[in-house]
Amino acid sequence: MSIAYFQKEKVFKIDTEHTSYIIGLTDKPAYVGHVYYGARVEDHDLSYLLRTSEMPFVPSQNNRDKLLFMDTYPMEYPVHGTGDFRGDALKVRTEGGHEVLDLHFVSYEILNEKPKLKGLPATFGKEAQTLKILLEDKICGVQAELCYSVFADSDALMRSVRIINKSKTPVWLERVLSASFDMDDTGFDLVTLHGAWARERHISRNPVNYGFQGLSSYRGESSHQHHPFLALAEKCADQTKGEVYGVHFVYSGNFCGSVYKNQFDQLRVTMGIGEENFCWKLEAGEDFQAPEVVLTYSAEGLGGMSRIYHDLYRQHLIRSPYLKKKRPILINNWEATYFDFDEKKLLAIAKEASKCGIEMLVMDDGWFGSRNDDTTALGDWFVNEKKIRGGLKKLVDAVNAEGMKFGIWFEPEMISPDSDLYRAHPDWAIAVPGRTAVKGRDQYVLDLSRKEIRDYVFERVSAILDSANIEYVKWDMNRQLTDLGSYDLPADRQGELSHRYVLGVYELQERLIRRYPKLLLENCSGGGARFDPGMLYYSPQIWCSDDTDAIERLMIQEGTALIYPLSTMGAHVSDCPNHAVGRVTPFETRGYVALAGTFGYELDVTRIPAADRAMIPKQVEMYHKYHNLVADGDYYRIASYSENHIYDCYMTVKKDKSEALLTYIQVMAQPQVHTKKIRLQGLDPEKRYKIKRFNIETGKEEPYSIKQALSGDTLMRAGILIDKTWGDFKGMLLHIVEV
Ligand code: DGJ
Repeated sequence: MSIAYFQKEKVFKIDTEHTSYIIGLTDKPAYVGHVYYGARVEDHDLSYLLRTSEMPFVPSQNNRDKLLFMDTYPMEYPVHGTGDFRGDALKVRTEGGHEVLDLHFVSYEILNEKPKLKGLPATFGKEAQTLKILLEDKICGVQAELCYSVFADSDALMRSVRIINKSKTPVWLERVLSASFDMDDTGFDLVTLHGAWARERHISRNPVNYGFQGLSSYRGESSHQHHPFLALAEKCADQTKGEVYGVHFVYSGNFCGSVYKNQFDQLRVTMGIGEENFCWKLEAGEDFQAPEVVLTYSAEGLGGMSRIYHDLYRQHLIRSPYLKKKRPILINNWEATYFDFDEKKLLAIAKEASKCGIEMLVMDDGWFGSRNDDTTALGDWFVNEKKIRGGLKKLVDAVNAEGMKFGIWFEPEMISPDSDLYRAHPDWAIAVPGRTAVKGRDQYVLDLSRKEIRDYVFERVSAILDSANIEYVKWDMNRQLTDLGSYDLPADRQGELSHRYVLGVYELQERLIRRYPKLLLENCSGGGARFDPGMLYYSPQIWCSDDTDAIERLMIQEGTALIYPLSTMGAHVSDCPNHAVGRVTPFETRGYVALAGTFGYELDVTRIPAADRAMIPKQVEMYHKYHNLVADGDYYRIASYSENHIYDCYMTVKKDKSEALLTYIQVMAQPQVHTKKIRLQGLDPEKRYKIKRFNIETGKEEPYSIKQALSGDTLMRAGILIDKTWGDFKGMLLHIVEV
């Protein structure tokens, strides 16, 4: 890791172990240009890449037409209104109503640390360096501080921006993106994640075309539909080779990520909050901190990119003490009972689950107020003693007496129109005065931009947590934001509501984990609508999807694991026919698929078939045997069911390469075919390994059909054959151990 400024050449160079990022300055006026990002290079003076000496640039000889320069120069932080038509990162309206900006270099600073971002989640770590570049528009007094940070042990580059109003009058920020960089299009595909409720984060890959393409969410959350991530992958890039650039936004609300290809086949990549539903008033002297973007460059294909993100998030984003601890295997009553439960039912589940080796009972939605379905009581965070007779402490003590921990569900950001809270404070919901707001799942969203509302929510949640031995919270959020109106904000600040809402959520979660440092927090949003790095800063795991079907999960978890470590993916074994898709899969396969995440159960253990019930203790053994390898290992994607429509295969490899776990799922059986040949990845070519197969019937490992020890080199180049299996939806775990 190093950051340097070369004064003579006016060049900044940021190096990580395998990457270089180079920024150059033009002569007067000093524009800040993006010179290079990619594999690490020795030299720093690469300013020739800015092409300022060839047409149409030559700014010194071309005063007649500066416009071409503005529209072609690879700007490090493009602004609105002065001729850069490729999509700008910053748009500011002055009191006079104008939106023209022209930012020039003022100064720079190199720090031996990574400063925090005020009020925002962000990566952190001790061995870090940061470059700050200050730009200014002297006419309107707006400054932009561009921030670039690197860690000693990572190839990721973190970018963020702070906007400062140095003028004597207010300005309105209409768009503040967090990162932008330009590069030549040498033939890239755009890789993104798309989805829907119960079908989150499926991978999409398309060639980059001329004009704008990208993705966004203006739903107030990072969303089921799109993900605040994009990657540019060389056409030849696959899991093991080719250049890939990743762009990931550490934010949980509205975002906009785009790629623009211009007439000179240059690409501009941007990521940030976006302008829809955003207008921020900046008074004289105030500043605005835009969230962080994590850039990665990998020369080892998409797999290399995944591993950079996984390590970065495990080492520099997730703060929970649970990150490095084995999480308790939980059983959640949602799919088991929905709203139809009482303390007896929960205790019966806990008793049976405990006998199976399950370690925690989570009481999901429906324990509070008058809530017996999803139409009422959000906001009334008082235990419903008609359901939980004897009170919460009695139930929790009884569950603890069974040797089980206890966890609880909240949806703290919401308010039901049919609730005591709404009857007392109708103005606490996000709504425009005089309009009936649109309901989503029969509920409104609380205006968390307001401190008194956050205080109420926190006070109620804490009162429940203080009342019994509660060791886990599932924090849910089940609707998108509409009717953006706050009863509290003045007219010229209504455009701040969406971002202030997200800041409010962050503040609440920060308070929660500070007050309860031992609490295991799992975020959730109607499944996986807010699975993003922002939320990971507060919770080490996020519920991946309301779809617990083992086959749909293969695709959801593949897309999620493209950027997130497996330790973050909430994954449970549920009952069949699956509640989302009606599919019936073998219980053992459901276990193998859930093993790729946090692992738990979401079923009524007192009512499932005896054979399934009997398998749970074996699955529990499987979890204890392999979980560390899954949670802390390096992830390698071998084959993708979403691409081949037949089978799925991935590995996790221990950091010291002494062992690996391979999961193989045969989704569709085929007649009259050879066994599949699989080339392993990530092993040490010089080490020798033996392969064992996990037998779920016995909970033990057995010799595999390939009995001899083989070198990592052989396993990765020649590969292995996967033993034939009869039937659809079958799975297999192979443990590859150094001998
Ligand atoms: C949506 C979540 O994703 C589910 O797991 C469950 O907690 C329900 N909400 C409860 O309303």
